[in-house]
Amino acid sequence: MFSRFQRPASGLARSLSTSSSNNTAVAVMGASGGIGQPLSLLLKLNPAVTKLALYDIVHTPGVAADLSHCETKAVTTGFVGADQLEASLVGAEIVVIPAGVPRKPGMTRDDLFNTNASIVANLAQAAAKVCPKAMIAIISNPVNSTVPIASEIFKKAGVYDPNRIFGVTTLDIVRANAFIAEKKGLDPADVNCPVIGGHAGVTIMPLISQCTPSVSFPADELKALTERIQDAGTEVVKAKAGAGSATLSMAYAAARFTDSLIKGMKGQEGVVECAYVASTVTECTYFSTPLVLGPNGVEKNLGLGNLSAFEEEVLKAGMAELKGSIKKGEEFVAKNF
Ligand code: NAD
Ligand code: LMR
Repeated sequence: MFSRFQRPASGLARSLSTSSSNNTAVAVMGASGGIGQPLSLLLKLNPAVTKLALYDIVHTPGVAADLSHCETKAVTTGFVGADQLEASLVGAEIVVIPAGVPRKPGMTRDDLFNTNASIVANLAQAAAKVCPKAMIAIISNPVNSTVPIASEIFKKAGVYDPNRIFGVTTLDIVRANAFIAEKKGLDPADVNCPVIGGHAGVTIMPLISQCTPSVSFPADELKALTERIQDAGTEVVKAKAGAGSATLSMAYAAARFTDSLIKGMKGQEGVVECAYVASTVTECTYFSTPLVLGPNGVEKNLGLGNLSAFEEEVLKAGMAELKGSIKKGEEFVAKNF
Protein backbone atom coordinates (compact mmCIF):
# COMPACT_ATOMS: atom_id res chain seq x y z
CA MET A 1 0.00 0.00 0.00
CA PHE A 2 1.28 3.48 -0.84
CA SER A 3 1.09 6.17 1.77
CA ARG A 4 -0.57 9.22 0.23
CA PHE A 5 2.44 11.41 0.54
CA GLN A 6 5.58 9.65 1.47
CA ARG A 7 8.62 11.80 1.27
CA PRO A 8 11.74 10.47 -0.44
CA ALA A 9 14.55 9.46 1.93
CA SER A 10 16.28 12.21 3.89
CA GLY A 11 19.03 14.88 3.68
CA LEU A 12 20.80 15.69 0.39
CA ALA A 13 21.45 11.99 0.61
CA ARG A 14 17.66 11.85 0.74
CA SER A 15 17.67 13.12 -2.75
CA LEU A 16 20.18 10.76 -4.24
CA SER A 17 19.68 7.21 -5.42
CA THR A 18 21.96 4.81 -3.64
CA SER A 19 21.93 1.88 -6.02
CA SER A 20 24.96 2.03 -8.26
CA SER A 21 23.31 -0.57 -10.51
CA ASN A 22 21.03 2.11 -11.89
CA ASN A 23 22.22 3.48 -15.22
CA THR A 24 20.23 6.48 -16.28
CA ALA A 25 20.76 8.94 -19.12
CA VAL A 26 19.58 12.46 -18.28
CA ALA A 27 19.56 15.53 -20.53
CA VAL A 28 19.37 19.04 -19.07
CA MET A 29 18.05 21.65 -21.50
CA GLY A 30 19.12 25.14 -20.43
CA ALA A 31 22.11 23.69 -18.60
CA SER A 32 24.18 26.89 -18.51
CA GLY A 33 21.59 28.90 -16.60
CA GLY A 34 21.01 29.85 -12.99
CA ILE A 35 19.13 26.60 -12.39
CA GLY A 36 20.83 24.55 -15.09
CA GLN A 37 24.34 24.72 -13.63
CA PRO A 38 23.66 23.74 -10.01
CA LEU A 39 21.09 21.18 -11.19
CA SER A 40 23.69 19.63 -13.50
CA LEU A 41 26.14 19.50 -10.59
CA LEU A 42 23.60 17.72 -8.37
CA LEU A 43 22.81 15.27 -11.17
CA LYS A 44 26.54 14.66 -11.72
CA LEU A 45 26.71 13.71 -8.03
CA ASN A 46 23.85 11.22 -8.35
CA PRO A 47 25.33 7.71 -8.68
CA ALA A 48 22.29 6.57 -10.66
CA VAL A 49 23.06 9.04 -13.45
CA THR A 50 25.61 7.55 -15.82
CA LYS A 51 25.11 9.82 -18.84
CA LEU A 52 24.55 13.54 -18.49
CA ALA A 53 23.92 15.63 -21.60
CA LEU A 54 24.05 19.39 -21.11
CA TYR A 55 22.30 21.47 -23.78
CA ASP A 56 22.04 25.25 -24.01
CA ILE A 57 22.34 27.96 -26.64
CA VAL A 58 25.49 29.22 -24.87
CA HIS A 59 28.39 28.10 -22.65
CA THR A 60 27.73 24.35 -22.34
CA PRO A 61 31.20 23.26 -23.55
CA GLY A 62 32.67 25.09 -20.54
CA VAL A 63 30.06 23.90 -18.07
CA ALA A 64 30.52 20.30 -19.24
CA ALA A 65 34.34 20.50 -19.16
CA ASP A 66 34.17 21.87 -15.62
CA LEU A 67 31.68 19.28 -14.34
CA SER A 68 33.41 16.38 -16.07
CA HIS A 69 36.35 16.76 -13.65
CA CYS A 70 34.17 15.73 -10.70
CA GLU A 71 35.16 12.18 -9.78
CA THR A 72 31.74 10.64 -10.36
CA LYS A 73 30.48 8.18 -12.95
CA ALA A 74 28.20 10.30 -15.13
CA VAL A 75 29.80 10.88 -18.51
CA THR A 76 29.10 14.55 -19.06
CA THR A 77 28.91 16.11 -22.52
CA GLY A 78 28.12 19.65 -23.58
CA PHE A 79 25.97 20.45 -26.62
CA VAL A 80 25.63 24.02 -27.78
CA GLY A 81 23.27 25.68 -30.25
CA ALA A 82 20.36 24.51 -32.36
CA ASP A 83 22.62 22.36 -34.59
CA GLN A 84 23.45 20.15 -31.60
CA LEU A 85 19.97 20.04 -30.05
CA GLU A 86 18.93 16.66 -31.42
CA ALA A 87 22.31 15.09 -30.64
CA SER A 88 21.91 16.17 -27.01
CA LEU A 89 18.73 14.12 -26.71
CA VAL A 90 19.93 10.83 -28.19
CA GLY A 91 19.34 8.06 -25.64
CA ALA A 92 17.86 10.39 -23.00
CA GLU A 93 15.56 8.63 -20.54
CA ILE A 94 14.81 11.82 -18.60
CA VAL A 95 14.78 15.32 -20.12
CA VAL A 96 14.78 18.13 -17.56
CA ILE A 97 13.92 21.55 -18.99
CA PRO A 98 14.92 24.73 -17.11
CA ALA A 99 15.50 26.70 -20.37
CA GLY A 100 13.96 30.14 -20.59
CA VAL A 101 13.91 33.57 -19.02
CA PRO A 102 13.21 34.13 -15.31
CA ARG A 103 11.06 36.87 -13.71
CA LYS A 104 12.18 40.30 -12.62
CA PRO A 105 10.43 42.17 -9.79
CA GLY A 106 6.90 43.26 -10.75
CA MET A 107 6.41 40.46 -13.30
CA THR A 108 4.06 37.51 -13.07
CA ARG A 109 5.10 34.09 -14.32
CA ASP A 110 2.61 34.53 -17.15
CA ASP A 111 4.60 37.58 -18.30
CA LEU A 112 7.29 35.06 -19.36
CA PHE A 113 4.88 33.29 -21.72
CA ASN A 114 5.83 35.17 -24.90
CA THR A 115 9.49 34.17 -24.63
CA ASN A 116 9.32 30.79 -22.93
CA ALA A 117 6.40 29.23 -24.81
CA SER A 118 8.42 28.94 -28.04
CA ILE A 119 11.56 27.79 -26.21
CA VAL A 120 9.68 24.92 -24.52
CA ALA A 121 7.74 24.07 -27.68
CA ASN A 122 10.94 23.80 -29.75
CA LEU A 123 12.69 21.67 -27.14
CA ALA A 124 9.58 19.46 -26.84
CA GLN A 125 9.49 19.03 -30.64
CA ALA A 126 13.08 17.80 -30.61
CA ALA A 127 12.40 15.45 -27.68
CA ALA A 128 9.26 14.08 -29.35
CA LYS A 129 11.38 13.27 -32.40
CA VAL A 130 14.56 11.94 -30.77
CA CYS A 131 13.52 10.43 -27.42
CA PRO A 132 9.70 10.09 -27.50
CA LYS A 133 9.66 7.65 -24.55
CA ALA A 134 11.70 9.87 -22.22
CA MET A 135 10.22 11.37 -19.06
CA ILE A 136 9.91 15.12 -19.64
CA ALA A 137 10.27 17.29 -16.52
CA ILE A 138 9.44 20.93 -17.22
CA ILE A 139 10.71 23.69 -14.96
CA SER A 140 10.38 26.65 -17.36
CA ASN A 141 7.65 29.10 -16.42
CA PRO A 142 4.79 29.59 -16.70
CA VAL A 143 4.59 25.87 -15.82
CA ASN A 144 0.78 26.07 -15.84
CA SER A 145 1.03 26.72 -19.61
CA THR A 146 4.36 25.15 -20.63
CA VAL A 147 3.21 21.64 -19.64
CA PRO A 148 0.09 21.88 -21.87
CA ILE A 149 2.37 23.28 -24.60
CA ALA A 150 4.76 20.32 -24.44
CA SER A 151 1.82 17.92 -24.30
CA GLU A 152 0.22 19.43 -27.42
CA ILE A 153 3.54 19.19 -29.25
CA PHE A 154 3.84 15.50 -28.32
CA LYS A 155 0.23 14.95 -29.46
CA LYS A 156 1.01 16.57 -32.84
CA ALA A 157 4.03 14.29 -33.20
CA GLY A 158 1.80 11.27 -32.44
CA VAL A 159 3.89 10.19 -29.45
CA TYR A 160 1.96 11.65 -26.51
CA ASP A 161 1.94 9.73 -23.25
CA PRO A 162 0.31 11.77 -20.47
CA ASN A 163 2.11 9.69 -17.86
CA ARG A 164 5.53 10.93 -19.00
CA ILE A 165 5.15 14.72 -19.08
CA PHE A 166 5.55 16.52 -15.73
CA GLY A 167 5.53 20.10 -14.54
CA VAL A 168 8.05 20.27 -11.71
CA THR A 169 6.26 21.77 -8.70
CA THR A 170 8.59 20.17 -6.15
CA LEU A 171 9.88 23.57 -5.01
CA ASP A 172 6.43 24.36 -3.62
CA ILE A 173 6.54 21.22 -1.49
CA VAL A 174 10.14 21.91 -0.45
CA ARG A 175 9.12 25.43 0.64
CA ALA A 176 6.03 24.22 2.50
CA ASN A 177 8.17 21.69 4.36
CA ALA A 178 10.82 24.30 5.20
CA PHE A 179 8.34 26.95 6.39
CA ILE A 180 6.28 24.51 8.48
CA ALA A 181 9.41 23.06 10.07
CA GLU A 182 10.63 26.57 10.90
CA LYS A 183 7.32 27.52 12.52
CA LYS A 184 6.98 24.33 14.54
CA GLY A 185 10.64 23.82 15.45
CA LEU A 186 10.77 20.52 13.52
CA ASP A 187 13.57 18.95 11.51
CA PRO A 188 12.59 19.83 7.90
CA ALA A 189 13.66 16.32 6.86
CA ASP A 190 10.72 14.94 8.87
CA VAL A 191 8.06 17.19 7.34
CA ASN A 192 5.94 16.19 4.33
CA CYS A 193 3.33 18.66 3.13
CA PRO A 194 1.57 18.04 -0.20
CA VAL A 195 1.00 21.07 -2.41
CA ILE A 196 -1.48 20.61 -5.25
CA GLY A 197 -2.91 22.63 -8.16
CA GLY A 198 -0.52 24.54 -10.38
CA HIS A 199 2.61 26.64 -10.00
CA ALA A 200 1.66 30.34 -9.85
CA GLY A 201 0.15 32.42 -7.04
CA VAL A 202 -3.36 31.28 -6.11
CA THR A 203 -3.02 28.11 -8.21
CA ILE A 204 -0.44 26.88 -5.64
CA MET A 205 -2.58 25.03 -3.09
CA PRO A 206 -0.81 23.79 0.06
CA LEU A 207 -2.64 21.01 1.93
CA ILE A 208 -1.37 21.73 5.42
CA SER A 209 -4.16 19.59 6.92
CA GLN A 210 -2.47 16.58 5.25
CA CYS A 211 1.00 17.40 6.53
CA THR A 212 2.94 14.70 8.34
CA PRO A 213 3.59 15.05 11.18
CA SER A 214 0.16 16.54 11.78
CA VAL A 215 0.42 20.27 12.49
CA SER A 216 -2.20 22.87 13.27
CA PHE A 217 -2.25 26.66 13.25
CA PRO A 218 -4.74 29.31 14.34
CA ALA A 219 -6.83 30.50 11.34
CA ASP A 220 -4.89 33.74 10.81
CA GLU A 221 -1.52 31.94 10.91
CA LEU A 222 -2.78 29.23 8.56
CA LYS A 223 -3.88 31.88 6.06
CA ALA A 224 -0.57 33.73 6.33
CA LEU A 225 1.46 30.51 5.94
CA THR A 226 -0.61 29.43 2.92
CA GLU A 227 -0.06 32.83 1.31
CA ARG A 228 3.66 32.73 2.07
CA ILE A 229 3.95 29.39 0.26
CA GLN A 230 1.93 30.78 -2.67
CA ASP A 231 4.11 33.91 -2.85
CA ALA A 232 7.48 32.32 -2.04
CA GLY A 233 8.76 32.61 -5.61
CA THR A 234 7.98 36.33 -5.55
CA GLU A 235 9.76 36.59 -2.18
CA VAL A 236 12.95 35.35 -3.90
CA VAL A 237 12.43 37.48 -7.02
CA LYS A 238 12.14 40.59 -4.81
CA ALA A 239 15.17 39.64 -2.71
CA LYS A 240 17.28 39.08 -5.86
CA ALA A 241 16.22 42.56 -6.99
CA GLY A 242 16.46 42.05 -10.74
CA ALA A 243 19.06 39.27 -10.74
CA GLY A 244 16.52 36.53 -11.46
CA SER A 245 14.42 34.09 -9.47
CA ALA A 246 15.01 30.99 -7.37
CA THR A 247 17.90 28.97 -8.76
CA LEU A 248 19.63 27.06 -5.95
CA SER A 249 16.49 25.85 -4.17
CA MET A 250 15.03 25.03 -7.59
CA ALA A 251 18.10 23.04 -8.55
CA TYR A 252 17.73 21.12 -5.28
CA ALA A 253 14.01 20.55 -5.92
CA ALA A 254 14.59 19.39 -9.51
CA ALA A 255 17.41 17.07 -8.42
CA ARG A 256 15.04 15.57 -5.84
CA PHE A 257 12.28 15.15 -8.44
CA THR A 258 14.65 13.64 -11.03
CA ASP A 259 15.97 11.22 -8.45
CA SER A 260 12.41 10.16 -7.59
CA LEU A 261 11.69 9.64 -11.30
CA ILE A 262 14.80 7.45 -11.56
CA LYS A 263 13.80 5.41 -8.52
CA GLY A 264 10.30 4.88 -9.90
CA MET A 265 11.61 4.03 -13.37
CA LYS A 266 13.99 1.47 -11.93
CA GLY A 267 11.16 -0.26 -10.09
CA GLN A 268 11.46 1.07 -6.54
CA GLU A 269 8.01 0.85 -4.97
CA GLY A 270 6.14 3.61 -3.15
CA VAL A 271 7.94 6.59 -4.71
CA VAL A 272 5.53 9.52 -4.39
CA GLU A 273 5.97 13.10 -5.58
CA CYS A 274 3.50 15.86 -6.35
CA ALA A 275 3.76 17.08 -9.97
CA TYR A 276 1.63 18.97 -12.48
CA VAL A 277 0.34 16.45 -15.01
CA ALA A 278 -2.61 15.74 -17.29
CA SER A 279 -5.37 14.99 -14.82
CA THR A 280 -9.02 14.06 -14.38
CA VAL A 281 -9.02 14.73 -10.63
CA THR A 282 -10.68 18.18 -10.96
CA GLU A 283 -12.23 20.08 -13.85
CA CYS A 284 -8.75 21.40 -14.74
CA THR A 285 -7.24 19.15 -17.40
CA TYR A 286 -3.79 19.58 -15.84
CA PHE A 287 -3.41 19.53 -12.09
CA SER A 288 -0.76 18.65 -9.54
CA THR A 289 -1.52 15.97 -6.95
CA PRO A 290 0.64 13.33 -5.25
CA LEU A 291 1.60 10.68 -7.81
CA VAL A 292 3.09 7.23 -7.46
CA LEU A 293 6.01 7.11 -9.90
CA GLY A 294 6.86 3.88 -11.70
CA PRO A 295 8.70 2.46 -14.73
CA ASN A 296 6.25 4.18 -17.08
CA GLY A 297 6.02 7.50 -15.27
CA VAL A 298 2.77 8.16 -13.42
CA GLU A 299 1.72 4.80 -12.07
CA LYS A 300 -1.14 6.05 -9.91
CA ASN A 301 -2.67 9.44 -9.18
CA LEU A 302 -3.39 9.65 -5.46
CA GLY A 303 -5.88 12.50 -5.91
CA LEU A 304 -6.86 15.27 -3.54
CA GLY A 305 -7.40 13.34 -0.30
CA ASN A 306 -9.57 15.02 2.32
CA LEU A 307 -9.51 18.80 2.20
CA SER A 308 -10.35 21.10 5.12
CA ALA A 309 -13.01 23.78 4.58
CA PHE A 310 -10.20 26.34 4.25
CA GLU A 311 -8.44 24.23 1.59
CA GLU A 312 -11.73 23.80 -0.32
CA GLU A 313 -11.82 27.60 -0.59
CA VAL A 314 -8.16 27.75 -1.67
CA LEU A 315 -8.95 25.14 -4.34
CA LYS A 316 -11.92 27.13 -5.65
CA ALA A 317 -9.91 30.36 -5.73
CA GLY A 318 -7.26 28.97 -8.09
CA MET A 319 -9.32 27.02 -10.61
CA ALA A 320 -10.29 29.82 -13.02
CA GLU A 321 -6.70 31.08 -13.40
CA LEU A 322 -5.39 27.56 -13.92
CA LYS A 323 -7.98 26.78 -16.59
CA GLY A 324 -7.08 30.02 -18.40
CA SER A 325 -3.35 29.21 -18.36
CA ILE A 326 -3.97 25.71 -19.73
CA LYS A 327 -6.14 27.09 -22.54
CA LYS A 328 -3.52 29.71 -23.38
CA GLY A 329 -0.83 27.05 -23.76
CA GLU A 330 -3.02 24.80 -25.90
CA GLU A 331 -4.07 27.68 -28.14
CA PHE A 332 -0.43 28.74 -28.59
CA VAL A 333 0.42 25.36 -30.10
CA ALA A 334 -2.77 25.22 -32.17
CA LYS A 335 -1.93 28.62 -33.72
CA ASN A 336 1.82 28.26 -34.16
CA PHE A 337 2.69 24.61 -34.78
P1 NAD B 1 18.52 31.72 -16.53
O1 NAD B 1 18.26 32.86 -17.44
O2 NAD B 1 19.58 31.85 -15.50
O3 NAD B 1 18.87 30.42 -17.39
C1 NAD B 1 18.10 30.03 -18.47
C2 NAD B 1 18.98 29.31 -19.45
O4 NAD B 1 18.16 28.92 -20.55
C3 NAD B 1 20.12 30.19 -20.02
O5 NAD B 1 21.36 29.53 -19.87
C4 NAD B 1 19.75 30.35 -21.47
O6 NAD B 1 20.87 30.44 -22.35
C5 NAD B 1 18.97 29.07 -21.71
N1 NAD B 1 18.14 29.12 -22.91
C6 NAD B 1 17.46 30.15 -23.43
N2 NAD B 1 16.86 29.78 -24.58
C7 NAD B 1 17.17 28.48 -24.75
C8 NAD B 1 16.85 27.53 -25.75
N3 NAD B 1 16.10 27.83 -26.81
N4 NAD B 1 17.34 26.28 -25.62
C9 NAD B 1 18.12 25.95 -24.56
N5 NAD B 1 18.44 26.81 -23.59
C10 NAD B 1 17.98 28.06 -23.70
O7 NAD B 1 17.13 31.35 -15.86
P2 NAD B 1 16.87 30.40 -14.59
O8 NAD B 1 16.94 31.19 -13.35
O9 NAD B 1 17.70 29.19 -14.72
O10 NAD B 1 15.32 30.02 -14.80
C11 NAD B 1 14.93 29.23 -15.90
C12 NAD B 1 13.41 29.06 -15.92
O11 NAD B 1 12.98 28.32 -14.76
C13 NAD B 1 12.63 30.37 -15.86
O12 NAD B 1 11.55 30.30 -16.77
C14 NAD B 1 12.09 30.41 -14.44
O13 NAD B 1 10.91 31.17 -14.33
C15 NAD B 1 11.84 28.95 -14.20
N6 NAD B 1 11.74 28.55 -12.78
C16 NAD B 1 10.81 27.61 -12.47
C17 NAD B 1 10.68 27.16 -11.17
C18 NAD B 1 9.66 26.10 -10.84
O14 NAD B 1 9.38 25.91 -9.64
N7 NAD B 1 9.14 25.36 -11.78
C19 NAD B 1 11.52 27.68 -10.17
C20 NAD B 1 12.46 28.64 -10.52
C21 NAD B 1 12.56 29.07 -11.84
C1 LMR C 1 9.56 30.01 -8.16
O1 LMR C 1 8.52 29.59 -7.66
O2 LMR C 1 10.54 30.36 -7.48
C2 LMR C 1 9.68 30.04 -9.67
O3 LMR C 1 8.47 29.76 -10.27
C3 LMR C 1 10.30 31.30 -10.17
C4 LMR C 1 9.41 32.51 -10.02
O4 LMR C 1 9.30 33.25 -11.01
O5 LMR C 1 8.87 32.73 -8.94
